Amino acid sequence: MKILVVGPGGREHAIVRALRRDDAVTEVHAAPGNAGIALDVVTHSGVDASDPAAVTALASAENFDLVVVGPEAPLAAGVTDAVRDAGIPAFGPSAAAAQLEASKAFAKEIMAAAGVPTAEAVHASDLGTAAGALDRFGAPHVVKDDGLAAGKGVVVTDDRQAALAHAQACFDAGGTVVIEEFLDGPEVSLFVISDGENLVPLSPAQDFKRIYDDDAGPNTGGMGAYTPLDWLQDYTETDAAGLTRNFTEVVVDQVARPTLAEMARRGKPFIGVLYCGLAVTSRGVRVVEFNVRFGDPETQAVLERLATPLGGLLLDASTGVLGADRQLEWSEGYAADVVIAAENYPDSPRRGDVITGVPEAEALDGVAVLHAGTADQEGALVTAGGRVLAVVGTGDTLQEAVDRAYAGVDAISWQGAQHRTDIAAKALRGEITVGAEG
Ligand code: AMP
Ligand code: GLY
Repeated sequence: MKILVVGPGGREHAIVRALRRDDAVTEVHAAPGNAGIALDVVTHSGVDASDPAAVTALASAENFDLVVVGPEAPLAAGVTDAVRDAGIPAFGPSAAAAQLEASKAFAKEIMAAAGVPTAEAVHASDLGTAAGALDRFGAPHVVKDDGLAAGKGVVVTDDRQAALAHAQACFDAGGTVVIEEFLDGPEVSLFVISDGENLVPLSPAQDFKRIYDDDAGPNTGGMGAYTPLDWLQDYTETDAAGLTRNFTEVVVDQVARPTLAEMARRGKPFIGVLYCGLAVTSRGVRVVEFNVRFGDPETQAVLERLATPLGGLLLDASTGVLGADRQLEWSEGYAADVVIAAENYPDSPRRGDVITGVPEAEALDGVAVLHAGTADQEGALVTAGGRVLAVVGTGDTLQEAVDRAYAGVDAISWQGAQHRTDIAAKALRGEITVGAEG
């Protein structure tokens, strides 16, 4: 099986590495890829990931058996529609199904129709409506840009003025906002792979969205992740039939199945990975957001533990043969990753800083370095994006996985490099608790 991975980032690097561990996969290429991906596989750096015609032309010319689309922008632009029209299986939703991420208002509408538990929300296109919603829900205020914003369009604040200012900025840019009630409780990312009808969940992970330690500073795309989540192990809810359901079963039953069924009912079957961003609140599991692709940087940790061959899994989902009771296998142990970002991320990251220490980090036991925003500048590896690298550690315990990731981070440097020092720290200290019902 010959597979093309579309996208430029760390998630795509993780997918490429996992595909290469699948014996049924004979060849992997990436478009455009990045400097790190190019060290592993053939890259087509001139191809624009969001250009449906360009990706389809490459897929046809090189006879790929499967095209895996990583990021949301190409999905929203219809890349998988074009690839499928050319008769090539594609992993990733159609542009119509990608609206689950591209429009927060659409996602809310689907959740309401499907009875999926989520934060109460008001869609506002003027300041008066926005102000009314802020007062109705009270602080902390949650104001979300309705469009794609790479995880940075959301402001959560106690400051009513700042909340209104964000809404105004979105209106000024020609957009609208969704204002929500605040969800308390720890966040979990659960990825669910679907072939449009059937589904299979991956292993839950936790992501760290804020730029600084202790969840301070602005939201980013994600600064680190770990999996699995021991603190969720005892989480149970009792369903309508009186059956005890564990966390993943609750999310599959209450969130993923009804959402996928509603999408199919509307003639927009969802093929790909549904990223369920969840808050585990005192009143049960609530959806914070949907994404229509693998999470970054959760994927770098999650795929590290996936023992089931990834190529076959993604091909089966893409061709509608996942089956009703698909099970996945996971290796024992833990994986954690720490993102190293460029100076001034998430505002306007500086590019072109020379990166050192990557080979030294990769030589450490249980350490992998996955590239996101890197480039090759006359033979030197330089920063070329906000999130530059994700250093993944694996180990028998979460502590070992985290220690290994940080040992890798310590080996790497460039001017202005920044990372969080507390990835998985609360979990390691046993400080995450959930108020489970039932
Ligand atoms: P989103 O882009 O919708 O994922 O939001 C980005 C981040 O903002 C989430 O990961 C949460 O940390 C936070 N957030 C979003 N919505 C809420 C909410 N209703 N309550 C509390 N935090 C939220
Ligand atoms: N890590 C958050 C995301 O991928 O959206």
